[in-house]
Amino acid sequence: METNSQASFKPFDSAQLGPLTLRNRFIKAATFEGLASENVVNEELITFHRRMAQGGVGMTTIAYCAVAPDGQGAPNEIIVRPSAAAGLGRFVDAIHEEGAAASIQLGHAGPVAAGAGQKGLSPSKVFSPQALRFTRAASEADLERIIQDFASAAKIVVDSGFDAIELHFGHGYLISSFLSPSLNRRKDRWGGSLENRARLARETARAVRDAIGNETALIAKFNMADGAKGGFWLDESVAVAELLESDGHLDALELTAGSSFQNPMYIFRGEAPIHEMASAFPQPLRTGFKLGAGRFLRDYPFQPAFLLPYARQFRSALKMPLILLGGLGQIATVESALAEGFEFVSLGRALLREPNLINRWQQGNRGEALCIHCNKCIPTIYQGTHCVLDPSSIR
Ligand SMILES: Cc1cc2nc3c(=O)[nH]c(=O)nc-3n(C[C@H](O)[C@H](O)[C@H](O)COP(=O)(O)O)c2cc1C
Repeated sequence: METNSQASFKPFDSAQLGPLTLRNRFIKAATFEGLASENVVNEELITFHRRMAQGGVGMTTIAYCAVAPDGQGAPNEIIVRPSAAAGLGRFVDAIHEEGAAASIQLGHAGPVAAGAGQKGLSPSKVFSPQALRFTRAASEADLERIIQDFASAAKIVVDSGFDAIELHFGHGYLISSFLSPSLNRRKDRWGGSLENRARLARETARAVRDAIGNETALIAKFNMADGAKGGFWLDESVAVAELLESDGHLDALELTAGSSFQNPMYIFRGEAPIHEMASAFPQPLRTGFKLGAGRFLRDYPFQPAFLLPYARQFRSALKMPLILLGGLGQIATVESALAEGFEFVSLGRALLREPNLINRWQQGNRGEALCIHCNKCIPTIYQGTHCVLDPSSIR
């Protein structure tokens, strides 16, 4: 892989992502759509992403898709198994018709699954603040099975025509929880040393690459920091990224931070939508949520490109392509990030507010994105994800 830390990329030029050529350097970040009521693709889900593709992104990402039923993190997620294949194929065809590439986020929710009515699986038994119960520590057999689930799911999506796969190595989901020194207190080969804690990430990337071959781009969305006391942080995350780079299975890393399990607002920054989130739950969960939510959902000041200072640590240590994410609502910020050597940018909330943002910028209207990062889109995952300020949004 070539380094490009000195290069200056142009946002609207076509670009190579592993074996894939994208029409530009913009990726629609994974924003779980909450639409797959039967755990398979439906027309609403296709419409959601068709709008993103029509709006100009180089690639859109269908999110979050579980590699196994016990890996679900929320209701209405796609579970990638043979019965999902036909719908996934229709999805890819629709995105290709609009000139964009199709990516799919694959993951196992691990401890986060506890919030979705399941037991929750984690490196060590831990109390789940969302589910108000303990998770189960994964056995060796669980881990072997889940690595195989990733490989099987990856094969299904490649056979369905996807151009790229994004492995979820962030946000306190299973693989990210294994990286965390505070959540992973195991004494076996999956815990303890950094190398042991990184084993699940590395084995998963290897198994998926073996299953899909070299013609599909493989990305990992990777936590730089959990935003939790004693959690995974830069002193270790850069080193794990170096291991992943030297393994050579991934075409790019998308850099993220925060934990749906321990500190969700660290993913987003800005004001926590506690009231709106509580409304999504039935009583008595609603009252319980309101009482406990202040500690769990913390406000953070929002800053444009809020992950850039952390991401620079990776840019200076790695040669592999990097995707910058987080608060990218200004074209000038995008341009300067690309000029620093980040190969791609990924946008979530800005595109929920304005699916046509990339076309608008490309056509010369360089005004800032309309998204005000109010975060009120987050609780809409329970009714079909949308921006509450977008009059034309799907719901
Ligand atoms: C409604 C919503 C749903 C999200 N769902 C996912 C998801 O399924 N998987 C994931 O990795 N990140 C998810 N995210 C996080 C985004 O991918 C992104 O990391 C975060 O919003 C910061 O980027 P932004 O400032 O461009 O929005 C979600 C974000 C939002 C707003």
